[in-house]
Amino acid sequence: MAASAIISIGAYAPSRVVTNDDLSKIMDTSDEWIRTRTGIHQRHMALAEETTASMSFNAAQAALDTATMDAADLDWILLCTDTPEMWTPATACFVQESLHAKRASAIDLTGGCAGFLQTLELADAVAKTGKIVMVIGTELLTRSMDWSDRSTAVLFGDGAGAVIVAPDRGQGIQLTHSRTYSDGSQTDILQKPYGGTRNPIPPEIVAHGGHHRIHMEGRKVFRHAVQRMSQSAREILTDVKLPVDAVDWIVPHQANQRILTAVADALHIPMNKVFSHVQNYANTGSASIILALADMFEQDLILPRQRLISVAFGAGFSWGSAVWTVQSLPPTRFIGRDQ
Ligand code: UT7
Repeated sequence: MAASAIISIGAYAPSRVVTNDDLSKIMDTSDEWIRTRTGIHQRHMALAEETTASMSFNAAQAALDTATMDAADLDWILLCTDTPEMWTPATACFVQESLHAKRASAIDLTGGCAGFLQTLELADAVAKTGKIVMVIGTELLTRSMDWSDRSTAVLFGDGAGAVIVAPDRGQGIQLTHSRTYSDGSQTDILQKPYGGTRNPIPPEIVAHGGHHRIHMEGRKVFRHAVQRMSQSAREILTDVKLPVDAVDWIVPHQANQRILTAVADALHIPMNKVFSHVQNYANTGSASIILALADMFEQDLILPRQRLISVAFGAGFSWGSAVWTVQSLPPTRFIGRDQ
């Protein structure tokens, strides 16, 4: 069967860094609590003039430039975010214009922290028909945060990632197999309830910033995340008949170091095969797996012929896993990467 491949990677992290100590000056928290409960040391925060579209453009242009590709070659722009530029039109249309991607059809998708793997599965299907797809995952979560809610505000950061997916010609990262899932019976455990048609925003909530509040039952999310990421990783390895020890790297959604450790334990995979940079970037939602991948390639951690598994879990609930085969090192540029 025809396959598709990631042929280029771009990533962008804003230049402003906010440490745990910085947060402890504006809320009742501490570096010690955040580090021990999450592994996070700092997060990147968009500057006032930055938006979801501008960060997406930076990542997408980096992916094009590093591969010396022309935006006019793109057939699709699929942009995954939970923090769009505005309600309508799609953030992807703003990016299409700034890239001058004249031939591209552009839409947004919202999938929580699993959104990138879900969007990539769709891009894979489109690329197998011969088309070239720019997949972007971007979050500007710090601008939609209730800073009085310490249990959530410390967890997230801003970032943007982009991968170009094309028909497989033996180069880059082959998208070997993927399975993603949703369980809409769990929408109440992790949600940002205000602002849509169900809960228009009451003025008294706006007055104290409560419309930005993400409702999250952290312990339940934690439990579901570990169980479903481990299970989907096992399923996908069974699908491709690959033993766990044949996996060279796990490239997980970067939510919380304790979640990553628990998933590795459940899969009996040593931690030195589980990539984590959650300490530097915190949880960047739809962007996080692309930032992780870009960081790994920039650090020369991944070699040709290696097998990667990516796993993600987030609001919805939606979750899933993907198996990727590295055929050659894709050109990669990560703007604003922590050295
Ligand atoms: O992509 C999926 C996105 N979601 C996630 O990744 C979240 C998954 N869940 C988690 O990572 C963890 O549940 C959290 C990190 C959110 C919370 O850790 P926890 O160990 O489950 O703590 P908790 O919510 O049970 O809170 C324990 C204590 C509470 O105090 P009391 O009631 O024991 O006195 C909280 O009020 O910690 C307190 N607390 C804090 N203290 C200092 C909560 N947030 C903070 C904070 N600083 N930022």
